[in-house]
Amino acid sequence: MRIETQRYTERFGSVRLNDVQQVLELDSGIAEETGPAEYVGVLKIDEEVIKEFEQKMAIAIPIKDEKLKLFEGVVSGVPHDCLLIVVSNSQQQRVDRFRMEKDALSQYCHFTRREALIIHQKDPVLAEALKEAGYPELLGDDGLLRSGKSEAMMVAILMAMVAQKEYIGFIDADNYFPGSVLEYARCYAAGFSLATSPYVMVRILWRYKPKVSGGLFFRKWGRVSEICNKYMNSMISANTDFETDIVKTSNAGEHAMSLSLAELLPYASGYAVEPQEILSIFEEFGGVLPIAQTKVTKHGVEIFQIESRNPHLHEEKGTQHLQEEMLLPGLSAIYYSSLCDENIKKSIVRELISQKIIKKKEDMPPQPKLYRALRSINLQKFQEAMADKLESYSALAAY
Ligand code: GDD
Ligand code: MG
Repeated sequence: MRIETQRYTERFGSVRLNDVQQVLELDSGIAEETGPAEYVGVLKIDEEVIKEFEQKMAIAIPIKDEKLKLFEGVVSGVPHDCLLIVVSNSQQQRVDRFRMEKDALSQYCHFTRREALIIHQKDPVLAEALKEAGYPELLGDDGLLRSGKSEAMMVAILMAMVAQKEYIGFIDADNYFPGSVLEYARCYAAGFSLATSPYVMVRILWRYKPKVSGGLFFRKWGRVSEICNKYMNSMISANTDFETDIVKTSNAGEHAMSLSLAELLPYASGYAVEPQEILSIFEEFGGVLPIAQTKVTKHGVEIFQIESRNPHLHEEKGTQHLQEEMLLPGLSAIYYSSLCDENIKKSIVRELISQKIIKKKEDMPPQPKLYRALRSINLQKFQEAMADKLESYSALAAY
């Protein structure tokens, strides 16, 4: 794979945030062909290096009632050496969609000779395991794991830790192009291979996100991400006194982390999760507030933003979903960050009013729920409580 070199990096405390790097070539040929004369500004990441990182990586697919055909396509795009982890919140009454997902995954693993883990978010064994491991706040009033993509991601992180992987990457289940899934995983591996710190995150920026309206229009920026990026950057600018537009991936659903970083971050519930990751990194390691973890300070946290070649086409879920479930939580996360000043808070409220999400300036955006870092969990206990479950699932999905 060939990608652009990190040409510009913003540094905040011990955080290194790299500007967008484009993928130049999805496949850069066999290793021997490259001499020392590689152009400055271009990086060749050898196939063996990509494979080496794929072996250490779990790919987590959160899914909730998506079309089975899309899920099957997504699964088929995940590189063979990555461990597949599916966390589902699909319905089990009337039509048992979870059963269908499990069957499809099991058949796929049989024919491709690979292993996968699949679990339902509302599985009582999972809830019990979280309780025993000292992390009951993920459970709702019914005693089961709360709904939400973020909650599914946290379970996937724990499962990847139990499976002793080093990295975890997230890929949505409603993607129409298996080829783009493959590219995301390769971008994750490429980013990890460039990192000099064990605390690393890779966030994907889609080159295009096509919209169907009459014909096909290759749109670059989604409405929500454009707005969230703007306020995220304003917040950073206000803290450094230098205006920046460095953040281009506030809402990147497709993103990956080393588990060393993943276990340190507090996560927001629902769709505030992706912007909150950046906020948490800045709050904890950006140098404005006291830095708690000296081990991390020594190495720093590295964030890569990689622009994929494939366009991203997924299921359209409507304006209300975009505004109320994505934009509002994203902006609320920024609003409640300890790094957000009064001026930015006011402009966020104005934005929410102009978007007709809140009515008047006295209305406060709702505070997103924040889960404490997973590091504090007793992984041993979690693993023991889940042992039978994990074994039966992997046996089911294995050949
Ligand atoms: N397990 C689980 N539990 N999965 C869920 C849940 C849940 O409660 N809710 C949603 N999902 C799954 C969906 O099935 C899909 O695979 C993925 O999570 C993303 O959900 P979508 O509903 O498709 O989100 P989106 O397309 O609006 O937003 C995506 O892109 C944004 C960036 O543009 C998400 O990845 C966002 O997190 C991201 O910010
Ligand atoms: Mg989607």
